[in-house]
Parts: sequence; structure tokens; C-alpha cells
Amino acid sequence: MNRRDFLITASAAALAPQVSFARSQFELVAEPVEAQILPAEEYAATQSFGFNGGLPGPEIRTRQGHPLEVLLRNKLNEGTAVHWHGIRLPNAMDGVPVLTQKIVDPDATHTYQFSPPDAGTFWYHSHYLSHEQVARGLMGPLIIEEATPPDVDHDITAVLADWRLDQNGQLTDDFATMHDIAHGGRMGNFARAFLPDVPLKTGERIRLRLINAATDRIFPLNLSGIKGKIVALDGMPLTAARDFETIELAPAQRVDIIADVESTLEIAMATRGGSYPLGQIDPVGSTEPRTIPIPVLSPNEVPRPGDVAQELVLTMQGGAMGGRHGGDNIWAFNDLSDMQPAPFASFSRGETARLRLVNETSFPHGIHLHGHHFYEVQSDGTLGDLRDTSLVPAGETQDILCVFDNPGKWMLHCHMLSHQAGGMKTWVEVL
Ligand code: C2O
Ligand code: CU
Repeated sequence: MNRRDFLITASAAALAPQVSFARSQFELVAEPVEAQILPAEEYAATQSFGFNGGLPGPEIRTRQGHPLEVLLRNKLNEGTAVHWHGIRLPNAMDGVPVLTQKIVDPDATHTYQFSPPDAGTFWYHSHYLSHEQVARGLMGPLIIEEATPPDVDHDITAVLADWRLDQNGQLTDDFATMHDIAHGGRMGNFARAFLPDVPLKTGERIRLRLINAATDRIFPLNLSGIKGKIVALDGMPLTAARDFETIELAPAQRVDIIADVESTLEIAMATRGGSYPLGQIDPVGSTEPRTIPIPVLSPNEVPRPGDVAQELVLTMQGGAMGGRHGGDNIWAFNDLSDMQPAPFASFSRGETARLRLVNETSFPHGIHLHGHHFYEVQSDGTLGDLRDTSLVPAGETQDILCVFDNPGKWMLHCHMLSHQAGGMKTWVEVL
């Protein structure tokens, strides 16, 4: 099945009547694929990696709280593993070699089973040599539906990514060069939003789920042709729908928007020179718009922070001009690069901790904690957004509050995957 067939199937599935099922089962085949990333009129397909014959991988869609089972079959010539980004799942299902599982060897299979506790927009991606495997396309959307989804006409997932392609549209294999690692990461020279073919009408209400699956690029996004509000970040509903102009989406972050269609839906990246188009959907008719306001999504049950039991400082160091050298040692947290035998911190189950994320470097970093969501603390000390990935600009500090209630060994790393490859990663333990 090629990518286009898949997307058509996926959007049709999204519109099909809801059936309830005891267990959702999916098979993900990691394999070499040929994908039409660049326009077909001018370019050949790109030889790359993907799932089930295409890239991004198929949209896995299931219901909040329902058991999900995914059989991963590795048909690559190298190992892999799949991480379910943002899902608060049992540690053994987290997909992180070698912290939580063994590498899935070529021709081997691995079964993941969990019941996603939160409804929202999530994604899955390789967590083995991820700066390279995600850049090649081993990623896809994971959509967890609410028991009662909001009233919209279309539920549209847009996966954003970028590629570094040569004249023939083929991926350059300059992964993890010292220069890319030490700077902003490996940026593509071509970016796009993968959008389904949806028969959109002006006047219709849509839910638009944007997922930044790029390895290193922060997307400043402009959306046009729709009028609406942000209703969720990183899968977690906002308590009040929020207006937006430009949306800044760090690698791995997601944003959900509910909006009414006014004209051609266009997703563009704001650039210094203007605007770089990522994708669009042209309306094919019109209908009367709704008069009721944009709804608020019902919250997921995430524990509220209690008294702070531990205060920790995580200082980001290194990079170009950062005075560290060599290999996977270019970036560090608190002077330590790469995975260490001992965790960065240990928590007793259920304890609240405050982490001060201090960015001493000249580059922004998107810090991701596995297995939990956390609150960003606002400058006035109040609780801000609930996230799983926090973008900390160069030279700035972001406090986060987290209830460490999920037992196991959890990675804490920069989601600029070139920085992760350059050593900006550690882990915490919840006992
Ligand atoms: Cu989205 Cu450690 O990963
Ligand atoms: Cu980083």
C-alpha cells in the first residue's frame, strides 16, 4: 500500500461510524520504502525507511482506556524499537533500547501492549539511532479518541517533517555530522506537512492535529483559511481554548486546533523571507457554519502536583562555543554526557518534584520526559501548560513540576535528535 492509499483509507476510517471494540490490534512493519516526498511531476520517489510500505507510518487510532496491541515486525537490515511518545504507559512498553527493552533485531518481532490513559494527539517513532531512523521516516501518528469526541466535521492529522535531499530527491546520508550536532541539528532542505485527502467544505468545523516529527527543526507555523483556537498541547486539553497567531512547535510537540474553514486551509512555515508552504487542502463546496463557540475538550486525569519533595536543577551545556569536544560528548546535562549507569534522579512513586531546566547554551532545546506529563511553571509561579516536551530557548530557564507516579526507568532528553545523539540525554528512576 503506498502512502497515498493509506492516507485515503485513514481519512475514510476517521469518518466511519464509531464501532466499539475490546482490543485494537495493529501490525507495524518497519521496512525500506519508496516514498514520493517531493512533487511527482519533477522528482523520483525517495528511497527511505517507513512503516507498512510508506512514510509517515499509518495512523494508529484507538479509544482512550482501551487495550491496544501493536506487533512490530522488523524488516530492516538493522535493529529498531518503537517509542510511543507522550503516552503514560507501563515502563516495559516504552520502547527504549536498552533501558526498557532489547533492540528488535532484523527479522525479529516485538509486541507492545498498553491501554492509553489519555485521549489526545500522540505519535510513535523509532527510539534506536533515532536521529537517523526518524529522519528516514520511522514515525507516525497515534491518535487516542475521547469516549465522546468534540463536534467537528473532520478530524485531520498533519505530520510535519523535513528531509535533506540531493538533486535526485534522495536522502543524503550525512547523519550526525559534528557540525550539525554542535549547532541546531540536522535540518532538512525540504519540509512538508503530510495531510489526508479530505473533502472539506467552507463553513465546516475541523479538528486539526499538528505533529512535529522533524528530528531537529522548530516549526514556526502560520495557518490560514481557518478561524479557531488551540484546544490542546502535547495531547493534553487546555482548560480554556486559546487564540493564536504564529504557532511555534518544537520537535515532538503537538498542537490540536478546532477551527471553522473559511477558504483554502494552508499550513506554512514562517521564514525570514516570508512564508514556506507545507501543505494545503482546497475546499470542494460550502455549508452553513456553526454558531456555537469552539468547544473545550474534557481534561485527562493527570495527578495535580502536591508538596514539592525534591528540587533539582538540570543544566544544559555544550554545543558550538560550549567548550565540550568529541563524538557523543558534545552536549551534556550537569557535566555528564550520554546515558550513565546511575539515574539523574530517583523518585519515590507519587512524589512531586520541581525541575529547573537551565539552558546555558547558545541553542534552543526541547526537553522531553518519558512516561509522564509535567506542568510548565509560569514566570509568576502559577501552573502553566501540561506538556511532555518543553522548549527552552537559548540562555533561558524553565521550571517544570511533575508528579512522578509511573514506576520504572524513564529517559529525559533533548528531542532535537541530533543533540540527543550528541550526548544530551539522561534518565530518571521512579521506585
Ligand atoms: Cu519522542 Cu525519547 O522520545
Ligand atoms: Cu537540544
